[in-house]
Amino acid sequence: MIEKLQPHKPKYTAFVATSVDGRISLTEKTLPDWNSQEDRQFLHQSLSHMDAVVVGRKTYEAAAKHLRKRITYVFSSRPTTLCHRESVTFVNPVRVDLEKLFQDHKNVAVLGGGMAYRFMLENHLLDELFVTVEPLIFGRGTPMFTGGTKTTRLDLLSSRPLNSSGTLLLHYRINH
Ligand SMILES: NC(=O)c1ccc[n+]([C@@H]2O[C@H](COP(=O)([O-])OP(=O)(O)OC[C@H]3O[C@@H](n4cnc5c(N)ncnc54)[C@H](OP(=O)(O)O)[C@@H]3O)[C@@H](O)[C@H]2O)c1
Repeated sequence: MIEKLQPHKPKYTAFVATSVDGRISLTEKTLPDWNSQEDRQFLHQSLSHMDAVVVGRKTYEAAAKHLRKRITYVFSSRPTTLCHRESVTFVNPVRVDLEKLFQDHKNVAVLGGGMAYRFMLENHLLDELFVTVEPLIFGRGTPMFTGGTKTTRLDLLSSRPLNSSGTLLLHYRINH
């Protein structure tokens, strides 16, 4: 019997730094400046194994200088479907077949923000999640998964301190 070849599926991994109360940003226009050096190092090392990144338009605007150097997909409702600018592709995610768009990549990093994490999660385009919990409470700011409509169960794969100041790194598998 001839086996039917399955289309290639990338592994999707999200990375997020959060306060203890689940907030990922205090200001829309800039990247977090409150996460630890160890978290930044962890993200930097992890990204060296990723061949593409996915972000929302607001996160792209906050980090364009870094993201322009990578193969980056930016979610936005502005393009009808896709709009390419060198290594950056602006994507309207509700009008494009994302599985097909990402199929040539092996490892896709989902770098936020809250709207982009939620969209990828609810569309079954998230396999694993690294959460760095910084020992802070903000009581305000952007939530980690904005506007969710479903509850998702996670399996904890590992947890470890990243430093002696109380930063924890949690690694989860998404249980779809
Ligand atoms: N702590 C962390 O680890 C971390 C990580 C990443 C980002 N951040 C921070 O989070 C903040 C931004 O988060 P955010 O949730 O406000 O914004 P975001 O997810 O970065 O961007 C939201 C924008 O993405 C587009 N978008 C997202 N989902 C879409 C969909 N389903 N359909 C069409 N367009 C979609 C829309 O762009 P249009 O308005 O163009 O339609 C929307 O306004 C920034 O301050 C950033 O620095 C923190």
